[in-house]
Amino acid sequence: MTLPPEAPTLPARLLHGASVLPNREAILPLLPKGCEFAEVGVGTGGFSRLVLSVCAPRLFVAIDEFRLHELDTLWGQPTQTLFGGGTHAQSYRSGFADRIGSGRMRVLEGDSADCLEQLEDRSLDVIYVDADHRYEFVRRDLAVAGRKVRDDGWIIVNDYIMVAELGATIPYGVVNATHEFMIEHDWGMQYLALQTRMFCDVVLRPSHLLPDLASLQHEVALLRASTSWRVTRPLRAAVGLLRSRR
Ligand SMILES: C[S@@+](CC[C@H](N)C(=O)[O-])C[C@H]1O[C@@H](n2cnc3c(N)ncnc32)[C@H](O)[C@@H]1O
Repeated sequence: MTLPPEAPTLPARLLHGASVLPNREAILPLLPKGCEFAEVGVGTGGFSRLVLSVCAPRLFVAIDEFRLHELDTLWGQPTQTLFGGGTHAQSYRSGFADRIGSGRMRVLEGDSADCLEQLEDRSLDVIYVDADHRYEFVRRDLAVAGRKVRDDGWIIVNDYIMVAELGATIPYGVVNATHEFMIEHDWGMQYLALQTRMFCDVVLRPSHLLPDLASLQHEVALLRASTSWRVTRPLRAAVGLLRSRR
């Protein structure tokens, strides 16, 4: 396999104020609570569960082709065992039956971009893109996601890496498709969430919503010069010291 072509370099203005997080779990508390969230490619639902518990979305849309039961094994386990003898969709739905029953979760079965297309334009706050990682698929998923997310929304892309493993036969197109989307649609990177084998996530927002580094530095300078900062400084130092000794 040859590596995919180099991804286009991102202009610095699309990275201003971006911060690095230790892992994707650290993204979730930074997202708005009670939002409308779509996960595109839900797998066995581990991340869906985490999103539900941390973000408490008022609506969660789970999108997947739900065909993993057709494989003999998955992540080292027979799929018969993994899905309790049923199908991928049955297993996912039964894990979230209460939420689906109460209308707080919709499950859309089929191709990722086709399913996303069924949703109203500008109806979601957060879209997590984690389905087929080949270039054409990610490019298409991002193009549709860009229309389905609200003007102040978030798109998170998983597995921001060029290949799945050494010796893989198909390269990932995630980095290329993500950079192209950012440049074409003027979306910036707010967070890069690391992963221990560099299967990172990137958190994207329309560039005009990114924190402007210069104005943040200005705010901090004003705060440092303010009386309240000086008054509370010894108190904050004491709290820091106490925390470090716990
Ligand atoms: C890596 S798993 C998702 C893992 C999940 N997001 C998590 O973090 O736990 C990828 C999922 O994408 C689904 N998928 C792959 N290609 C797809 C496509 N073209 N349309 C819809 N779903 C797809 C697979 O069925 C699989 O469940």
